[in-house]
Amino acid sequence: MTTHRTRRAVSAFAVTATLLSGCAAALPHDLGGTAPAIAGVAATPPMGWNSWNTFGCDIDEATIRAQADALVSSGLAAAGYRYVVVDDCWYNPTRDAQGRLTASSARFPSGMAALGAYLHARGLRFGIYAGATDRTCAQLSGTYPGATGSRGHESTDAATFASWGVDYVKYDWCSPESDTNDQRDAFVAMRDAIRATGRPMVYSINPNSGIVLPTDADATSVPGAAHDWGGVATMTRLTNDISAQWRSGNGPNGYQGVLDIAGVSASASADVRAGRWLDLDMLEIGVGTELTAAQQRSHLALWSMAGSPLIAGNDMTRMDTRTRALLATSGILAIDQDAGAPARAVSADGWTRRRQMADGSVVVSVTNPSPVAHTVTIDRAGLDAHGAATDVWTGRRLADANAPIVVTVAAGDTAVIDIG
Ligand code: GAL
Repeated sequence: MTTHRTRRAVSAFAVTATLLSGCAAALPHDLGGTAPAIAGVAATPPMGWNSWNTFGCDIDEATIRAQADALVSSGLAAAGYRYVVVDDCWYNPTRDAQGRLTASSARFPSGMAALGAYLHARGLRFGIYAGATDRTCAQLSGTYPGATGSRGHESTDAATFASWGVDYVKYDWCSPESDTNDQRDAFVAMRDAIRATGRPMVYSINPNSGIVLPTDADATSVPGAAHDWGGVATMTRLTNDISAQWRSGNGPNGYQGVLDIAGVSASASADVRAGRWLDLDMLEIGVGTELTAAQQRSHLALWSMAGSPLIAGNDMTRMDTRTRALLATSGILAIDQDAGAPARAVSADGWTRRRQMADGSVVVSVTNPSPVAHTVTIDRAGLDAHGAATDVWTGRRLADANAPIVVTVAAGDTAVIDIG
């Protein structure tokens, strides 16, 4: 329940915070060029697990180790989920005498280097959260003490992370300050600090939380969707925080459902490719009870069609067989990890998507956002997809080359069709 309170507290802050005075920020002209922000990482979208969706602020080293063990014993690590990301609330509320971040003495008494070694010994990789302003998000909302954000400490903190064996830095802008140039400066400073360590760490940024856009009416999108941050970060969050629901009914300043985020991703204009991924946010598969089995399938399918990082958020030690099987669906994961460009929406409603795979084949997804089943005929000519059709979920042959492809898509589900 603490998890729930913590996350809601942040959302309430976003809604009630005083509007910033002043003016709209000039749009940044240079967000870093076309090269990957950090060389040598994430040739394909990162996959892993993050503590936030299940545990919120209630984390400690025994919890993280148990999750890591389950990731391995369940076979999900072997399926590709290798990064274990320790989210907010792992640190002591004050820096040490040298200005360094330290592991919470109560929660991580063995220290973060020991945790990194534990993960590496199991073939996993080590991720850690830090705040891009003066506070982390839990500190901003008052659910965790202190003000240990990394602004002004970028070199020290990147060096500390590198010394602990960190492989992935989640760098979170959670602040009512919403000047885009300030965001750019903050994210670039940490990018440069990570580069300077010489350790290839995935750099995962979120420019979207806690911000207060000039007026609600103007808040049509948050910075993750409005700009292409591909030269700044390895992966950039597209929207405000996901929660385990289908549609949230919120605007961009609030929590987002699966369908809300997938809808934004269809019109995202960022240049997405190796080392510069668009992050649709962590997975809510196996989290809570609100998402139906079909909606959870859509969640994985739509994230994979978009080439998003896949960072699971469920409790790995209590995972049911259906959740495990869904997260491990090899045909869908192969789409996510493909080197071809992310899917484009090809229907007027945005829910039929086409992805050109690196081998020249075409994958088409059809999502049914409605509460009743739909039967659709795939428009082969319009999609320029003429080969034999296979259902990626089941491996079943749907149609021979050039023959009509007719699929029935259950409420909330997504058909994924490989058209060779
Ligand atoms: C939010 C972020 C979440 C989580 C949380 C931790 O700003 O979007 O993913 O990291 O902070 O407090």
